[in-house]
Amino acid sequence: MIATPVIIVNFKTYEKGYGAKALSLTKILQKVAEDTKANVAVAVGPTDIKEISHESSLPVFAQHIDAIGYGSHTGYILPEAAKEAGAVGTLINHSEHRLRLADIEECVRRAKEIGLITCVCSNNLGTSKAASLLYPDFVAVEPPELIGGDISVSRAKPELVKGTVDAVKAVSPEVKVLCGAGVKNGEDVRKALELGSEGVLLASGVVKAKDVEQAIRDLVTGMV
Ligand code: G3P
Repeated sequence: MIATPVIIVNFKTYEKGYGAKALSLTKILQKVAEDTKANVAVAVGPTDIKEISHESSLPVFAQHIDAIGYGSHTGYILPEAAKEAGAVGTLINHSEHRLRLADIEECVRRAKEIGLITCVCSNNLGTSKAASLLYPDFVAVEPPELIGGDISVSRAKPELVKGTVDAVKAVSPEVKVLCGAGVKNGEDVRKALELGSEGVLLASGVVKAKDVEQAIRDLVTGMV
């Protein structure tokens, strides 16, 4: 398990979020995490998991796995392959890579089977409740309309964050809640934690920042 509160930075498929640039980005995040003792993890594309997990001390998440096992499947991400490449966990059902409920359940099951930390993304309260019943390690609630924008979920929809925390904890206090979408600064993070979330999932606030180091330094101020 990773320590919380945590900031998980999702590199998505941003131009600055893959290959050599992804590694440079990770090194900056790692430096700030070491300086500040903040818990920072990264979620990277499948072709970058191996290099980043070998070259960095930050926990690496896959952005997605598929609900498959060894065998005749083509173009899918085998959970075992993500793990062997160095991932410690995986996002499941990100808003930009949605899955059917049965596949989410199977991804959680397969990930747990091989010891990957599971972070199931949800888009609203109902989906958060459904996700919690699969007992993942994390439920990350992200309203799709706020993703990539400048107004954070913790400011725009505090009731959604609080409602998700209450609903998830009613199912299982063991399942941790993250929130995401539009999180850009330390104040957004502080507010998210005040609402009961145990961290944030974010992307553009770091990956598209003009000054990545300054952006992550500001964000982690919300965790102390
Ligand atoms: O996975 C995190 C993401 O969907 C939120 O994106 O750019 O709003 O921080 P962003």
